Amino acid sequence: MNKNEAKKKIEILREEINLHNYKYYVENNPVISDYEFDQLLKELEKLESDFPELITPESPTQRVGEQPSEGFETVEHKVPMLSLANTYTYDELREFDERVQKNVGEVEYVVEPKIDGAGVALLYENGILVRGVTRGDGIRGDDVTSNLKTIRSIPLRLRGKKIKNVEVRGEVYFPTEGFEKYNKKQAKKGEPVFVNPRNAAAGSIRQLDPRIVASRPLNIFIFNVFIYYISFSDKDFKTHEKAINALKEAGFRINPLTKKISNIEEAIKYCKVLEEKRETLNYDIDGAVIKVNSFSQQRELGETSKHPRWAISYKFAAKQATTRLLDIAVQVGRTGTLTPVAVLEPVYISGATISGATLHNFDELKRKDIRIGDTVLVERSGDVIPQVVKSITEKRTPGAKPEKPPKKCPVCKTEVVREEGEVAVRCPNKRCPARLKWRIKYYASRDAMDIDHLGESTIDKLIEEGLIDNIADLYFLKKEDVLKIEGFKDKSAQNLLDSIEKSKKQDLSRFIYGLGIRHVGKYAAQLLASKYNSIDELANASEDELKEIDGLGDKSAEAIATFFATEENTKLIEKLKDIGVKTKEIRKENLPLQGKKFVFTGGLTTLSRPEASDLVKQKGGIVASGISKDTSYVVVGDNPGSKFDKAKKLGLEIISEEDFKELVSK
Ligand code: IVH
Repeated sequence: MNKNEAKKKIEILREEINLHNYKYYVENNPVISDYEFDQLLKELEKLESDFPELITPESPTQRVGEQPSEGFETVEHKVPMLSLANTYTYDELREFDERVQKNVGEVEYVVEPKIDGAGVALLYENGILVRGVTRGDGIRGDDVTSNLKTIRSIPLRLRGKKIKNVEVRGEVYFPTEGFEKYNKKQAKKGEPVFVNPRNAAAGSIRQLDPRIVASRPLNIFIFNVFIYYISFSDKDFKTHEKAINALKEAGFRINPLTKKISNIEEAIKYCKVLEEKRETLNYDIDGAVIKVNSFSQQRELGETSKHPRWAISYKFAAKQATTRLLDIAVQVGRTGTLTPVAVLEPVYISGATISGATLHNFDELKRKDIRIGDTVLVERSGDVIPQVVKSITEKRTPGAKPEKPPKKCPVCKTEVVREEGEVAVRCPNKRCPARLKWRIKYYASRDAMDIDHLGESTIDKLIEEGLIDNIADLYFLKKEDVLKIEGFKDKSAQNLLDSIEKSKKQDLSRFIYGLGIRHVGKYAAQLLASKYNSIDELANASEDELKEIDGLGDKSAEAIATFFATEENTKLIEKLKDIGVKTKEIRKENLPLQGKKFVFTGGLTTLSRPEASDLVKQKGGIVASGISKDTSYVVVGDNPGSKFDKAKKLGLEIISEEDFKELVSK
């Protein structure tokens, strides 16, 4: 096949695949088997691998496969993503209707389920998905395009010609069924579980590795469209209902329970229907949304700085159930804070089985008078960890005693302290294994020494077995030690040891960050590593000298000085040096980009972000995430975000990817 023929065939295959995708995900009516679908995809993959120059970003083969990113670009929403005003009673809905009618006369409504997931905006240019952004704070969100592309019900290319340039908004959700399966699998592996489907959705779209996102069963419903970008003359876009239908035709997945309603009483009836349906759906909904149907009336009503005046949400009652409080466990956090946690007889609350709930702190426990053995009312309200609302004291068994804060840390048995005026009870022992676990987790984390295969439960077991007592002990682990830990086999043990070994060569900046010095985040760590050639030089710097460093706060300077004045810390560092952990950067003095601060915005085409960052660091520069007056260079790629505008405003030096490559090659 020559290139021209391949091009034609590729186009045909893409059309066909998109059509079946649409039938499957939007119409819920597949006309071919999964096997046949996979064959089409394989054929396309084969052709694209023969003619890689014909691959385009919106090809159905390009949903997954990008490398993990270092972080997300923050981008400003073209139009702020507002939230909805909440109501809890039908009378409040009637009041909403009165306000609306007073302003614009008679209206029709559309009522939709309020999906409990993570809001996103999808931007299409010329029919192609160019960007997907999280809601963030409503003004700015994270560019998570590569993650959203993995969701198969999000069209990469729009169908038909009606809609080409548009921004749509919707809710990504983690199906309840998939959620339970996912958590069971995680729990079995001893890995962290998600508290609820909403956290699972929000956490997944902010995953740094799109391949992990692709392995999760995320889905989306689209519920809003920005008419500003559609051709206005078209009669299809006069009402929300029509726009939604047009969106469906264009390939978007619309919630099938979306319904046009003629007046508020009917809307209220439909809210009741939705509330009853709630338990039967494969996604969490926490209410109903009532929207004015006509776009011109919507515009007339306008919005406040927070909410549109043309829509409102009716929140369903929180989901509650009663169960027995079997025990009150105590968790020790990173700073030593002790938190009481309810151990519950497992209870099913719409979509999830709950066996634990937070009790916040010991004061709260006393205030609510919750005792072991009590029947308790537990609430699961979408966004947060399940809560114990109250004890049903009528059902209390005689003799149940109030729980007192422990006098000793449950992990290391050190006497706890309670600082004046503070609610929290703390374990003051810096060597407490519970705190040690957090320290090691931090040291091994992706932004620090990036040690793979060292999850929380593995760390727990290593500590339990007495194999590690501090960070340095990681480097003395032997294969036979790791094999003592449940779940490790020859290969996985070797993988862990290899990752630990590999971490010895990490940059000085990662090492500094991994030490977990208070007030020393990623940026401060880079700043210090660009200024000092070794950890020893840093350790010898006086507090006053540190305070002189531009961009480093006084609090950080103090914390660094205190850290290095502590014998335990200096001993640890000596040990790490002896083991061969890299604590020096060579040839720093005359590096061409010494002290220069870089900020990236937009997509790079020939380099990944981590590659670009490494190039900067190798030449002595530092990479910051935000723009400020002292930014030396702003590297602008495709579709730059708000940082680009800010850079222009501040008159900073703006360079292209090409310029950047030239600069770092010197
Ligand atoms: S319309 C201008 N419709 O709820 C506000 N939002 O509190 C437009 N949500 O951020 C929102 N289902 O993430 C709308 N059918 C629905 C929704 C919905 C869920 C979320 C959305 C929004 C939040 C508002």
